[in-house]
Amino acid sequence: MQSPKMDLLALIGLAMLCYFFAYVIFLSFLDCDLRLAWAEKFGKPIDSVRGKVIWVTGASSGIGEATAVALASGGAQLVISARRESELERVKNRCIEEGKLKGEDIYVLPMDVTVMDKHQEYFDDVIRKFGKLDMLVSNAGRSQRANWEEIETAVDQEMFELNVFSVMSLTRIAVKYFLTRKEGGHVAVTSSIAGVLGVPFSGSYNGAKHALHKYGADASASDRRLTADRCGYLCAVALANGLREAWMALPPVLPLTYLGCYYPNAGWM
Ligand SMILES: NC(=O)c1ccc[n+]([C@@H]2O[C@H](COP(=O)([O-])OP(=O)(O)OC[C@H]3O[C@@H](n4cnc5c(N)ncnc54)[C@H](OP(=O)(O)O)[C@@H]3O)[C@@H](O)[C@H]2O)c1
Repeated sequence: MQSPKMDLLALIGLAMLCYFFAYVIFLSFLDCDLRLAWAEKFGKPIDSVRGKVIWVTGASSGIGEATAVALASGGAQLVISARRESELERVKNRCIEEGKLKGEDIYVLPMDVTVMDKHQEYFDDVIRKFGKLDMLVSNAGRSQRANWEEIETAVDQEMFELNVFSVMSLTRIAVKYFLTRKEGGHVAVTSSIAGVLGVPFSGSYNGAKHALHKYGADASASDRRLTADRCGYLCAVALANGLREAWMALPPVLPLTYLGCYYPNAGWM
């Protein structure tokens, strides 16, 4: 006869197995992780960011632009940064047309995020403009593609300057400020599947997004991606709901990432 302790362990094991398979099966049909999908359907609406001041870096195109427009539709006051001022002005106009903002609710702050000795100055500028900051979304970033052995060290350095050190620098300033406020604050960073598992043909980018690990992935490049609009919208849902971490990608990337992350010896990598 089996001991009750063994039965309990078997039950826990079975429950974990069911949870694992249910998770991977659901992920196979979604373009984001389960918590984010739940938040999109049943969580706080993006409108819950109304009245908050949110700074989005890398807002002149792509995911940063789409995130800014989605947050504008929720009524947040925005600071939008990147190097190309004319593109930021275009995004500002989109936020006014498609969002619920007036011109004075959006501050265009052109900056090169890699010039880190100016970060404090820019931060003080934002506080002077709106009197506060509630969220910093560090989205500015860039990838790289090349055979690993062909990458010059200068490219590794650029990837880390832009995708890691500039993010750390601005985030530290924001965190110091948030710690002085009773309302606290929220920092978010646009990472990548490259920062969880690594993607083909992008060694320096993988390394930067992992901030050390995963250098040296090879194989051929693939260009199937979630659209920036959907990604920006999901970023806004995640921000509105305060999700600690949110994954988004086209199937079957998410279940494979989940398997690779939590079952690294599963044999498919
Ligand atoms: N697209 C994807 O499939 C994907 C997947 C995973 C993760 N991501 C991440 O998502 C983020 C946004 O990428 P994206 O795909 O939307 O690319 P994107 O359209 O090229 O946007 C990159 C943004 O970063 C800004 N930027 C680049 N270098 C900068 C610098 N030195 N200083 C200030 N701003 C700078 C660019 O503006 P300026 O050129 O005007 O400066 C632009 O606004 C990145 O962190 C990227 O790693 C993208």
